[in-house]
This record gives sequence, C-alpha cells and structure tokens, in this order.
Amino acid sequence: MNRKQFLKNSTKGVAFATLFPSLAFCTTNGKQKPIPGSYSITQNFEPDTDIELTATPTELQLFTGNKTNIYTYQLKLISGDNAAHEKLPGSYLGPIIRVKQGQKIRIRFKNQLPRESVVHWHGLHIPPEMDGHPMYAIENGEQYIYEFEVNNRPGTYWFHPHPDKITGPQVYQGLAGLFIVEDNNSGLPSGEYDVPLILQDRMFDNSNQLVYLQNNQMGQMQGFLGNRILVNGNPDITFNVSTSTYRFRVLNGSNSRIYKLAWDDGEDVIVIGADGGLLEKPVKKPYLMLAPGQRAEIWKDFSGQNTGTEIQLQSLAFNDGTSMGMGGGMMGRGMSGGMMQPDGVENGIAFNVATFKVTENSGKKMELPVSLSTITPINPADAVNSANPRQFYFYNQRMQWVINGETFGMTEVADWEKVKLNTTEIWEFINGDNGRGMGMMQDMMRMPHPVHLHGLQFQIIERNISGMQRTVWESVKDGFMDDGWQDTFLLMPGMKVKILLKFEDFKGIYVYHCHNLEHEDMGMMRNYEVID
Ligand code: C2O
Ligand code: CU
Ligand code: CU
Repeated sequence: MNRKQFLKNSTKGVAFATLFPSLAFCTTNGKQKPIPGSYSITQNFEPDTDIELTATPTELQLFTGNKTNIYTYQLKLISGDNAAHEKLPGSYLGPIIRVKQGQKIRIRFKNQLPRESVVHWHGLHIPPEMDGHPMYAIENGEQYIYEFEVNNRPGTYWFHPHPDKITGPQVYQGLAGLFIVEDNNSGLPSGEYDVPLILQDRMFDNSNQLVYLQNNQMGQMQGFLGNRILVNGNPDITFNVSTSTYRFRVLNGSNSRIYKLAWDDGEDVIVIGADGGLLEKPVKKPYLMLAPGQRAEIWKDFSGQNTGTEIQLQSLAFNDGTSMGMGGGMMGRGMSGGMMQPDGVENGIAFNVATFKVTENSGKKMELPVSLSTITPINPADAVNSANPRQFYFYNQRMQWVINGETFGMTEVADWEKVKLNTTEIWEFINGDNGRGMGMMQDMMRMPHPVHLHGLQFQIIERNISGMQRTVWESVKDGFMDDGWQDTFLLMPGMKVKILLKFEDFKGIYVYHCHNLEHEDMGMMRNYEVID
C-alpha cells in the first residue's frame, strides 16, 4: 500500500491530506506534529491473520504483597490460525506473534493507555506508515490499523511502543512482545525446545511498584538501570530443562542495560541467529555482547548433564567506557553513588541472568548443523558512496545526546539524511564528536550507544577501534557477533562502525536512533527519507 492509498483510508485528516499532503501537519512549539489519525481497514486486503492488540494498564501479582501496576498488550484473534499467537507462559510480556514469510497480517491496535502510543515492529521491512513512526501515535481511545505483508527472513523480531519522548517509560511498564517469522528448519530444536528469553532490568519500591527515572535529567542522561533482572517478565526465574538441545531466542528488551552473556559451565556461547534470522553457520564465542534492541539465537545442549545440575546464564563484568565529565576514565562510576544511579546497578557489573536446572533425563539431543542458512553478502563496491560514506557522529553536546549535532524533529529530514530508492550505501557511525562538539569537556562525556535503524536489515562491514580505550576494548572484544543481518549494533565509546545498506521497496520517512531508550526519548533519534 502506498502513502496515497493509505491517506485515503484515514477517516480524520482525509480532506486535507489527500489534496495537500503538507497540510496534514500542524505546528506546535516550532516542531511539526502530524494530526493523529484513526484509520479503517482496507477492504481488499485479505489477511492470513487478523488480530486486535490492546495496550492497557493493569495490575499483576508479581511478588507477595501488593500487586504491581504495569502496562500490557492484550491480544484477541479476529481471524486466522490460533497458532499465530501465543502467550509467554506466566508473563505479562508478549504476546508472541508467529507468522510465516509471505503472510499478510492485520493488527488493530487499540490504545487504552493514559498517553499517546504507537506500535513499532522492530526489524521488519514494511512501509513507513506501518512501521510505528512516532508521528503516527494515537491517543487514548483511538485505533490504528496495521496491514502489511511479512517479507523478512525467518527470525526473531519484536514489537514495542514508540511514541516521541515516552518510549522508555512505556516499554519499562511492560510493553514488549516477540514477532517470530518461523522457519521450517527441521535441523533445529523446536516446540518446547525453542524458548524465548526476554532480558530486562527493573527496580521496585517497597510496595512492589516499578521505579523509573522520570524528571531526573542526570538519570536520563545515563539511561535507566535497574537492580533486578527479569527474564520473560519474571524476577528470579529458574527454567527446568531436560537433557536436550535447546534453541534460545534471546532479546535484550532492557531500556539501557548491555549484557555480556556467558555460561557458567565453561562452554562457549554458540550463536546461530542474529537480528535478521539465522546465520550462515554457527559462531562460537566465549561471551556475547547484547545491547538493547538486539536479538541472538543461542544453541545449548544439556544432553551431557546429570539431573539436578544447575547452569547459569550470566552477564560478566566489563568496562563500558562511560565517562561523564572532565578527567575521563571512569568518572561515571565515581559519580554513580550520588548523582547518577544508586550503587550496584551500573552497566558492566556482573550478575546472574537465569538458572537452567536439569530436572528430566529425557528429550532430544541434536547435532549442531554445519550450515544454517544462506546469507547473500551485499557488495561494498555496489555502494554509491563507497569512496565517501555518510558519517553519523553520536555524542553529547551541552548535556544533550545528539546525532551530528541534531536532535529529533517529528518530520525533520536534513539533506544528509536523504537516500535514493534502489541504491546501496555505506554508512559510518562514530561514537564521539571528533572535535565537532563543545571541545574537551563535552567530548569526555561518552557512553555506549546501541545504534538502530528502522525499515531494513543491514550488514556490518567494519569495526574500527583505534579511538577506543584499550581497557574498554579488552573487556568486550570477543563478544561482537557481526555476521548475518542486523538492525541494531553496539557502538562503544571511541568506536567507528561501517554498515552496508540497500534501500528497497518503500519510499518515505523512517527513524534511526540510539536504542538506549532514555537517549532516544531525549532526542538521540533522527529521520532518514528514502526518495525517488
Ligand atoms: Cu526497537 Cu525504533 O526501535
Ligand atoms: Cu526498530
Ligand atoms: Cu545512546
């Protein structure tokens, strides 16, 4: 569906929008804000799955004592196969939406939250109007219809709210689900051996309520970091497993926390999938860095274990390179007891993520496949700007996280953010201002940024570490998994990363941003536009 057809389907704003597209925007506080719409279904769109997804506040018995106030997505199947969705067992997160490549899906999103919201389908290659750009946020009581064909590779994608400036708190309150495009790979663990692991950190007060950093500028600067790890929405989870081989679909659904994942039984982490589906072949790592927004599929064989054995999935200690002022080094750490964060929650501390207890001597051992899928490499020589890649500097300017000195404007697109349809490009992302910002003092405010682009999957071609502190690099260097297709990658302080992208199928405006959700909410987000 192109933009014109789409606007015809809108019930509000239809008169102006179709005649004068530019009049569909009104101005508030100097920034353009589109008129919100409530849209109707397309009659000739025949979905394989038609669901209603309602975002609503609710309360939940998470701990003994007081119930916890949260937000949740409630799913109702209107038509299609029951297998198209599933609840995350015992969790307020989710649901899991399961589709197959080529299927058409309609999602009627209903907003019952106190504030505006919009659903973003993280990782999917779909038209801009379907992607959950903040300009399409709807108010309480309104409905937005998503209709799209799933053309992504099989893989583990996800969905979450994306309203301007309040994505962090809405995700934090419980809104996140998986969008799985299924493969028919018989050589991989399936059914009960195919297990999602959504990793999030949270903080609760004495009455079991979620604590967030609202109205705390220094806290927002660093991003929210909690003192408790929840897996699939459960605090202190233990998974009972059998002596079988498992496929774990791991999503870092945290606002700001970066994980350095490792097994405590001394085995390597065997990665079989990334953001955009299965790798060409399995990759073994002593540990795996997983930044907010990223997914990794991990192969784990418990078949050699005795019943009763407990194996921990851990996050190991690392130096995240955060520096929050003059003197550089670890100033962020030094300040964390006071201004920044309570002690013991910093990025880079070690903790247990989940316990896997072998309780049953049964199940299925599988052999690790030698090859998993076909990845067609994009040829760097095809890039129209291979001699002169676009550069995106992620840094701090006057206590504000920026990209090339700019913050988010709802429909703002700079010349350096316009790309041509059906072209291949190289983009380079640089953590640091390279002398373009406010000089020494500001340049020393550095943090890791998980960089994410909407609308497509890309390939990582280079990680340049020449500007990095040695101690920082040494503590993370074996954990980068840059094979396959990606939509999010970790950009450490001083690091430069080059990616290859192909702009295909859809014209229009998509966002790219830091997936540290507090940075995103502060405006470390911009639009890029695919034009003719
Ligand atoms: Cu998962 Cu724009 O984000
Ligand atoms: Cu996204
Ligand atoms: Cu950031």
